[in-house]
Amino acid sequence: MLKTLALAALLALPTYAIETEGLVPIGAYQSIQGDTITCQDSSQVKIQFLTPDLVRIRMAYRSNLDDGHSWAIAKTDWAPTAVTNNETPEHVAFQSSKLKVLVHKNPLKIEIQDQNGRVLNKDARPLLGDPNNTQKAKLFDPNAGSMTVVSKELGVEEHFYALGEKAHKLDRRRGHFSMFNSDTPKYTEATDPIYQTIPFYIGLEDNRAYGLFYDNSYRSHFDFGFSQQEFTGYAVEGGQIDYYFVNGPTIKDVVQRYTELTGRIYLPPKWALGHQASRWSYYPDKLVEKIADTYQSHDLPLDVMTLDIDYMQKYRVFTWDLQRFADPDGLTRRLKAKNLHIVNIVDPGVKYQPAADNPEEQQPEIKDQSKSYYVYNQGSKNDYFVKRKDGKQMVTTVWPGETVFVDFTKEAARKWWGDLHRAYLDHGTGGIWNDMNEPADFTEKGDTGANQRDSYFYDNGKNTPHAKNRNVFALLMCKATYEGLLRLRPNERPYVITRAAYAGIQRYSTMWTGDAPSTWDALAVSVPMFCNLGLSGETFIGADVGGFMLRGDGEMLTRAYQISFLVPFCRNHKDQSGYDQEPWRFGPYYENIIRKYLKLRYRLLPYLYAGLDEARRTGIPFIRPLVLEYQNDPETYSMDDQFLAGRDLLTAPITKPNLESRRVYLPKGNWYDFYTGAPQKGSYLKAAAPLETTPLYARGGSIIPLGPEKNTVDALPNAPLELRVYPDLGGRAEATFYEDDGKTQQYLNNQCARRKVSFQNHQLTVQSTAYSLPQRKLNVRFYATQASKATYNNHPLPLQKHGNYVEVQINEGPQEHVLKLQ
Ligand code: GLC
Repeated sequence: MLKTLALAALLALPTYAIETEGLVPIGAYQSIQGDTITCQDSSQVKIQFLTPDLVRIRMAYRSNLDDGHSWAIAKTDWAPTAVTNNETPEHVAFQSSKLKVLVHKNPLKIEIQDQNGRVLNKDARPLLGDPNNTQKAKLFDPNAGSMTVVSKELGVEEHFYALGEKAHKLDRRRGHFSMFNSDTPKYTEATDPIYQTIPFYIGLEDNRAYGLFYDNSYRSHFDFGFSQQEFTGYAVEGGQIDYYFVNGPTIKDVVQRYTELTGRIYLPPKWALGHQASRWSYYPDKLVEKIADTYQSHDLPLDVMTLDIDYMQKYRVFTWDLQRFADPDGLTRRLKAKNLHIVNIVDPGVKYQPAADNPEEQQPEIKDQSKSYYVYNQGSKNDYFVKRKDGKQMVTTVWPGETVFVDFTKEAARKWWGDLHRAYLDHGTGGIWNDMNEPADFTEKGDTGANQRDSYFYDNGKNTPHAKNRNVFALLMCKATYEGLLRLRPNERPYVITRAAYAGIQRYSTMWTGDAPSTWDALAVSVPMFCNLGLSGETFIGADVGGFMLRGDGEMLTRAYQISFLVPFCRNHKDQSGYDQEPWRFGPYYENIIRKYLKLRYRLLPYLYAGLDEARRTGIPFIRPLVLEYQNDPETYSMDDQFLAGRDLLTAPITKPNLESRRVYLPKGNWYDFYTGAPQKGSYLKAAAPLETTPLYARGGSIIPLGPEKNTVDALPNAPLELRVYPDLGGRAEATFYEDDGKTQQYLNNQCARRKVSFQNHQLTVQSTAYSLPQRKLNVRFYATQASKATYNNHPLPLQKHGNYVEVQINEGPQEHVLKLQ
């Protein structure tokens, strides 16, 4: 028995715990020139302030600093920051108005303090390198680099968040992770790595937050006190150390600054917030329409039908199957007449199909490509495909059988790939789903990258190996797609979804969390996954509602919708096996509850859209862990079974079967039961949660906008808005709502409007920053008030009393409106 246990423990050991045996510290300080230090072992260290709050720290172990290029960085034109330098026999110091970076000379260690001298972050050991190649056996590609390790002191009370997409709890403390984009179907909690690489984390201790972004695309490893209790470790298998320290003190400050550096989301077409239907695969066209009609005849909201891989000619990307989808224009036209949009999947793998000739044709995507395939021909002729060391195209195996990949590090190849999307847009496609872009390769059988190890990428003329380029492959594929869609339809908003990613992905694409199984555990881990993705810059996120693989059932599907109705990407998707899981498939009992939540999502669209606008302007995500809003409240530090949707809605979902109630934590302040309006004090409470209901609360101090009940996003554009005013304990509430045309890029030219609504002293003020905002009827509900009379711009107004609220209706005029309660 003991023996079995010991073996189990051994097997559970992660593959890449950071070990430092045989590694050699960086040499001591020797000299300094400007912001660059040279060490006694000829290593270099550069300390560069981008803003008083943001420092870039680069370290080249036993070599000169390289050109520092990164695909992740969005902003390089920072205004100059005033920095003073000062040298003593022990250290050199670089100081801005907010931060001080001390470089201790011997041993060389970096320490960061705030303006009051409080230590925020400190090397526990000097940088370690591997000049004797002792770690060689552990590297993905021993010929492409060697291990370097950064070690930071780990606070006894320090917590860690972000780090992108990890199937893991909210707080990364005591966790241990690798970064190597991997195709991991049916992943469960602790499967690591999975699809994305976002090497950015947030530390929080004593109510003070900071961020560290380790910008290096080689395979890397993070250790938050797992293998060594006193260190936070970062190990990377090649390239140089290049990290950004982001000052807090709030988590929000850190996320804002990180997303200024790596970019913020753009607004996709508003219909992308609608409910999406997907299956591997809906075909032929008649079935796609039949499913769409069934949604509509069942009174289930829907905006998108997805076409998975079977719409193509034998998985040839940028083609349409001539039998199954003989008339794509007709299909998209008929769906559009019902306010529905098509999204096509596009994989990075191009069928390897050397051709006898290369005929140039009009609209090759709807011609037979079995003899000669235009995408392969063009890519081959122009040398756009990834090659192996021997100079031959790298032929892997994906859906089409023998497959080649595009070298997206080549600008011309990206432009070509982007332009190929004409094959969809010409036929009315609304959005593009980039899948398998780790890139997945079926010959590898779990050994990620094994078959691609000897491939090379152009990489700005540097000709670098797979080890360096794997993690940015998807980022660059999405960049190509996004830029292509914008070129093809300059005034329409691109809509791109991706599976794999690197830091900065939010500039080009939305994401979903891949092939999670239909299990309760996967549903539970989706909550901390969403929260940490948000803190990592990605706001337009979601999971396959109901899970992708394995059996699934009605209860689990219903509970999954009770989470995803609040999540930006809300798509029901299922693989070829398992139970069908469209909302009606398990019978009317479940369907009726799912309908109720989908209808509520559509009513909350004005709130969701305001959340996207906020994320676009500030980087603050829509899905938030409680710690983001309540970082001085230790109850929230590991709270990963509830979350906030925007600032003002708190939900505590059910992620286990057969539950009728659960414990809920409402932070300090006052709250309102969203369904009844009943006031609640901040505290732990037991909430009723039969399958019909998921616990949902509005924050005291908020105003929640609700649109009309409807079944497509674009329906009823001029309908009245309902404003639910939930006063805080001081009787105040405020919010900002956002509107634009929902389709074009004109919002970037200020063709958008925000309504600022505030309530205090029994008086509600609505101010619009207009460009021609449609004037609406506003139904205003005031909760927790004894009022019995109302005036609007000084005229008496009828007021209706209901159980927990009073309601008044106004017609919005062009100026400021003042509504008084008495
Ligand atoms: C991958 C995707 C999945 C898709 C399937 C077929 O597994 O993650 O969503 O249905 O490929 O394209």
